[in-house]
Amino acid sequence: MKILSVFGTRPETIKMAPIIERLKHTRGVESIVCVTAQHRHMLDQFMNLFGIQSDFDLNIMKPNQTLTEITTSILTQLKEVLRQVKPDLLLVQGDTTTAMAGALAAFYEHIPVGHVEAGLRTGNMMMPWPEEMNRKLIGSIATLHFAPTETAKNHLLRENIPTDKIFVTGNTVIDALHFTLKNSKSPAFDFIDPTKRLILVTGHRRENFGEGFQSICKALKKLSERKDVQIVYPVHLNPNVQAPVRFILGEAKNVHLMEPVDYFTFVFLMEKAHLILTDSGGVQEEAPSLAKPVLVMREVTERPEGIAAGTARLVGTDETKIIREAELLLDDSEQYKIMAHAHNPYGDGHAAERIVQHILEHHEASV
Ligand code: UD1
Ligand code: UDP
Repeated sequence: MKILSVFGTRPETIKMAPIIERLKHTRGVESIVCVTAQHRHMLDQFMNLFGIQSDFDLNIMKPNQTLTEITTSILTQLKEVLRQVKPDLLLVQGDTTTAMAGALAAFYEHIPVGHVEAGLRTGNMMMPWPEEMNRKLIGSIATLHFAPTETAKNHLLRENIPTDKIFVTGNTVIDALHFTLKNSKSPAFDFIDPTKRLILVTGHRRENFGEGFQSICKALKKLSERKDVQIVYPVHLNPNVQAPVRFILGEAKNVHLMEPVDYFTFVFLMEKAHLILTDSGGVQEEAPSLAKPVLVMREVTERPEGIAAGTARLVGTDETKIIREAELLLDDSEQYKIMAHAHNPYGDGHAAERIVQHILEHHEASV
């Protein structure tokens, strides 16, 4: 069986790595990797780390690229790869434009699609934008749906996806997290001040560009005036993120801005953190496993499991609200304890194993 995995951004690489590793060692499977390089630097940073080699590299990234440019370059180039490889199944992950265009390109070539991390929904097409549309489109195209949780499965059932095509597997990000904790060691982190509590920050959502990011940065600046905290912020390479962050926080005391770090380093930064502020999807999934409270700087989330378990809270992008919620956790140890418990709604570290098993069973049944 020929399986073509297509991915192109940082989170897809982290979440596809456990599957690609598994496929590599599965008898009867020829695993082929095509990267779009929607993220050039943040992809390359991770390929070596996870020991993945690409068979095809579409190299599509342009500075400040538009969604149309990403989609059309992938559709045009992937068609040729699909005609050459003729895979039995194409795998995409998540809700990026790479994943959506990858699934669409396969549909045009009559190639079945498996969707990893299927069924996440906010119910709001504009939040996150364009990811909610991307995942709905992939859901309509895919034959096999690998849902991380029961909640995700229920979303798909409501969209009339046949129940025997949905498999609840857990999220492969937990596989990657467990692998990292087991196989790598914490770097030295000479920039961390051990006398202070570490607030780790990430952010990149398109709907937060402009006012949202300005407000987030102002809140961080205010929080950094406290003598008992240090803010560490690996800044996403998107120019719409870099500009406000560097402008507002560039000179702020107690704020350590840095380039995005590799996955192993980021996992240990999360481990060292007292509190995490983010609008990222993946970080919301990882932090509960590490018993780290997360304030989610978004209006809605497609990952309600952490909120329901009390380990994550939605705070939006309002400056006052971010400060208030962060200070509550910094000043009220009871509130902190309520949020800082280990909880694992997103998987047990064996998602990739299940996904590969379901693919093989489905293939055997169909030949
Ligand atoms: C993309 C995904 C988003 C995902 C996020 C993960 C889409 C529409 N968005 O958003 O769903 O959550 O990745 O991080 O698919 N850049 C670089 N080097 C890099 C990566 C990005 O310079 O390695 C800069 C480029 O100027 C690029 C810009 O960032 O044009 C935006 O990258 P893009 O992939 O379009 O969007 P993200 O905001 O990263
Ligand atoms: N991450 C990383 N280095 C960083 C910041 C984040 O390795 O400097 C990891 C993080 O652990 C998570 C993933 O990147 O697994 C999240 O990626 P991102 O926030 O870009 O995308 P999203 O999950 O929101 O789609």
